[in-house]
Amino acid sequence: MYLHKLSLINFKNLREEEFELSPGINCFVGDNGAGKTNVIDAVHFLSMCKSSLGMTDGQCVRHGSDSFLIEGRYRTDGDRSEQIVCSFARKGGKTLKRNGKEYERLADHIGLAPAVIVSPSDGALISDAADERRRYLNGFISQIDRSYLQSLVRYNAVLAERNRLLKAMPEEEMLEVYDLQLSEHGRAIHRKRAQIAALLEPETARYYGILADESEPVSIEYRSELNDTPLEELLLRNRERDRINGFTTSGIHRDDLMLQIGGYPLRKFGSQGQQKSFLLALKLAQYTLLAREKGERPILLLDDLFDKLDAGRVERLIRLVGSEDFGQIFITDCNPTRLRTILDRRGDPYTLFTVADGTVQP
Ligand SMILES: Nc1ncnc2c1ncn2[C@@H]1O[C@H](COP(=O)(O)OP(=O)(O)OP(=O)(O)O)[C@@H](O)[C@H]1O
Ligand SMILES: [Mg+2]
Repeated sequence: MYLHKLSLINFKNLREEEFELSPGINCFVGDNGAGKTNVIDAVHFLSMCKSSLGMTDGQCVRHGSDSFLIEGRYRTDGDRSEQIVCSFARKGGKTLKRNGKEYERLADHIGLAPAVIVSPSDGALISDAADERRRYLNGFISQIDRSYLQSLVRYNAVLAERNRLLKAMPEEEMLEVYDLQLSEHGRAIHRKRAQIAALLEPETARYYGILADESEPVSIEYRSELNDTPLEELLLRNRERDRINGFTTSGIHRDDLMLQIGGYPLRKFGSQGQQKSFLLALKLAQYTLLAREKGERPILLLDDLFDKLDAGRVERLIRLVGSEDFGQIFITDCNPTRLRTILDRRGDPYTLFTVADGTVQP
């Protein structure tokens, strides 16, 4: 799937921009603060209904304005057209339309226009707490499987109810009802996470080998209390502890992904370069799984690529993503020449945009 036209009104520092994109490589170059990441974020918004940078919808409205609008015109790999419009108004909230028809729930849209983003903020996947990795996994699996997102929404709703109840001296029968529901949704989420993590590991290792050109084995291990014990059993066993704490101490909301290199935690023992290559390999593995599951090549968003790789590795990556397995690609860089040098050497066509002070010029 690719985006052939993007229109933006008052999205962050982009006032009113409209441009045509190529189905292959699209580069956005310009100074720091010009708006390159904002363009990438707008594309992410159309896929995931939210900013990739953890900004609220309100924060994405251009300062001094009341609303923003993002419109994307897509063509699928099967040559079908899709028009997606996402708008947000400080007063009216967020709406999402597909081919002119408003979605009842935003969640119904996730997965229609799959996208994978690689950005400097990926570092949080290594350095931050487990919830960052769970968030990553959730976003990824939601694009593959709509029922996963539904299970997750329900699980979180029941979990919040159960926690509220725990603080108020609950009756056993009430807890039993919640535990049953929590177990059911938790089981579905656990099964899917385990399945995806198992697929992710060999693909990540393969890409790591290509990108880093070294033979250190990398591994991804899905840690969950549910690996060994069913959730209904855990909930029952820990009921007393939960009452004392006033919240639910076991469940898939405590899962984690252990990222390792050479058998040791990536966070502590991976060099800067190894960590960056790992993250990139992880994202390319995600891309490959997503493409396989959807039968549709996602859009690949590579923000600030040189943040992760030196010129030699960027060249290797560009060769890699230039293959048939990858579809449309967005790349940003603040240096106007180094990316062009690499792309010109490669010879295949690409489209270049210059971003300056919130404007985008082909
Ligand atoms: N809601 C908003 N309204 C107006 N401007 C905004 C808003 N949100 C962010 N900006 C501005 O957008 C600019 C940052 O844009 P962006 O992150 O896309 O830059 P960039 O071109 O990617 O830069 P870099 O090369 O440093 O990564 C900043 O100047 C910031 O103030
Ligand atoms: Mg940027």
